[in-house]
Amino acid sequence: MLIARTKKNLQEAVRVWKSGGARIGFVPTMGALHEGHISLMNLCKTRADRTIASIFVNPTQFAPHEDFDRYPRLEEQDCIKLEDAGVDMVYLPSAGEIYEDGMEPRVTPGKAAEGLESDFRPHFFGGVVNVVERLFSHVQPDIAIFGEKDYQQLEVIREMTAAHDMGIEIVGAPIIRDDHGLALSSRNAYLSPAELAIARQMNVILYEAARGTITPEAAADKLLEAGFHKIDYVASRWGRMLAAAWLGKTRLIDNVAVGTACPGS
Ligand code: PAF
Repeated sequence: MLIARTKKNLQEAVRVWKSGGARIGFVPTMGALHEGHISLMNLCKTRADRTIASIFVNPTQFAPHEDFDRYPRLEEQDCIKLEDAGVDMVYLPSAGEIYEDGMEPRVTPGKAAEGLESDFRPHFFGGVVNVVERLFSHVQPDIAIFGEKDYQQLEVIREMTAAHDMGIEIVGAPIIRDDHGLALSSRNAYLSPAELAIARQMNVILYEAARGTITPEAAADKLLEAGFHKIDYVASRWGRMLAAAWLGKTRLIDNVAVGTACPGS
């Protein structure tokens, strides 16, 4: 697996691959990789000739009070996982490389960014489109893969790519869950064993709302009863039932397709 830390090194390899006719696939990540990320790499490999992953903990999508400093940084382990997954190249840019011309956004999020996450993390999608547009301009992929766990993010990126005619196919990859249905997330690493048990109720309650057995409001109440401390939202959009809720200092998000039942129920 090639490792590129600069745009120059990245683009040298991409140029050679493209001149050989290769279709370039890209999976941006913030590292702390788990099986969910590896499933994105695997999907990318089926859709492209070359798979490039990036690891960059993007400062502009964290508010000052959020977990940028404590976000797990596991570069060596992550690179081993990517190599084992058969990724062709990992891009590990510095903040200076990404924001070489300053952190001012060159694009702004569209309508998909309104509500839900933006009501609670108003800075978030501005930071996401800012970094994804820069990563896209460095990698120049034909296709890029994003997890459906961050469903609103996927919609925001689809919209940005279309609005700016970037010519990049955006593909959503299904959520990977643990044996209890908890959506895999790098932030699950923050949970104590007791919090983990509560977190595993989230998908069960979301499926009830997705089937219409309970309302989104009742689902929010049930999450509180299960032990979540604060519910940011439970709401339906894009044919998904989406939720964000806090367990101590950890904020978890998840979503399931409207109309579907909890597997195994
Ligand atoms: O989903 C993520 O990990 C991040 O928001 C992304 C898309 C890599 C941008 O920093």
